[in-house]
Amino acid sequence: MSIFDRLSLAGRVAVVTGSGRGLGFEMARALSEAGAHVVLTGRTAETLDRAVDAIAQAGGKAEAATFDAADIDAGRAAIADIRKAHGRLDILINNVGARDRRPFASFDDAQILNLIQTDLLSAVSLSRDAAEIMKAQGHGRLIAVTSIIGNLALPGDAIYPIAKQGMTGLVRSLAVEYGAYGVTSNAIAPGMFATETNAALAENPDMISFARQRVPLERWGRPDEITGAALFLASDAASFVNGHVLTVDGGMSVRM
Ligand SMILES: NC(=O)c1ccc[n+]([C@@H]2O[C@H](COP(=O)([O-])OP(=O)(O)OC[C@H]3O[C@@H](n4cnc5c(N)ncnc54)[C@H](OP(=O)(O)O)[C@@H]3O)[C@@H](O)[C@H]2O)c1
Repeated sequence: MSIFDRLSLAGRVAVVTGSGRGLGFEMARALSEAGAHVVLTGRTAETLDRAVDAIAQAGGKAEAATFDAADIDAGRAAIADIRKAHGRLDILINNVGARDRRPFASFDDAQILNLIQTDLLSAVSLSRDAAEIMKAQGHGRLIAVTSIIGNLALPGDAIYPIAKQGMTGLVRSLAVEYGAYGVTSNAIAPGMFATETNAALAENPDMISFARQRVPLERWGRPDEITGAALFLASDAASFVNGHVLTVDGGMSVRM
């Protein structure tokens, strides 16, 4: 089998959470280009419909599942529905990651719980259910989108790194518990990407200059530059890669 065949996702069923736009959409589009049927998730039906249409117009296969990541029961129901409809689930990319940049002391307990639920507990719950389906199949790819924030931290940005470090722990727990069943678990840790959500920051001259100084490639990442990592980890080309965090940051996190 050629390396290109091993990158094919033909016949695979994938879920990418938070994929109506941004990095999630780019990863969903890439998986569909490689042949997977992709389920896109998010809170806004219209955004998801547009994303599904864009994939379909490019010849891909996609559908939408509308739910808020913070709603754990809704997420579990969506995974059960996907299994019922398709009879399998091969790839889960836990991509949702909300961020609320403000001082630690300004968060009350309910706000902390909501962020942790959205960014971490949702992924824990979806991964558990998906991993059991994958275990029964003898094949699966669990992928978590973390961040270079987590190993690194910023003042005034307290809860997000806590959740992202938790995701790294989740990836490792799954890797050791499910590896024996042909199910791998890895993470992608992005650096600075000029997504729609970051548009104002990415166009800010100070932030352009910051990227030039801090990122060895001297620029922000383009959203589609996340896709190579996602396709690789989702495919059979990564069959012996397990428990790894693949940083995609233009070298930012290794620069002194
Ligand atoms: N962009 C970067 O520079 C960067 C850097 C490091 C790490 N990351 C990580 O990469 C991931 C994607 O980042 P991004 O910048 O592409 O994200 P984004 O643009 O902020 O959001 C992408 C998608 O997530 C969905 N979403 C947001 N909250 C949700 C929720 N509670 N439940 C369900 N869906 C939700 C949104 O749809 P709806 O609004 O319709 O729900 C949207 O389609 C995140 O985990 C982020 O932490 C990004």
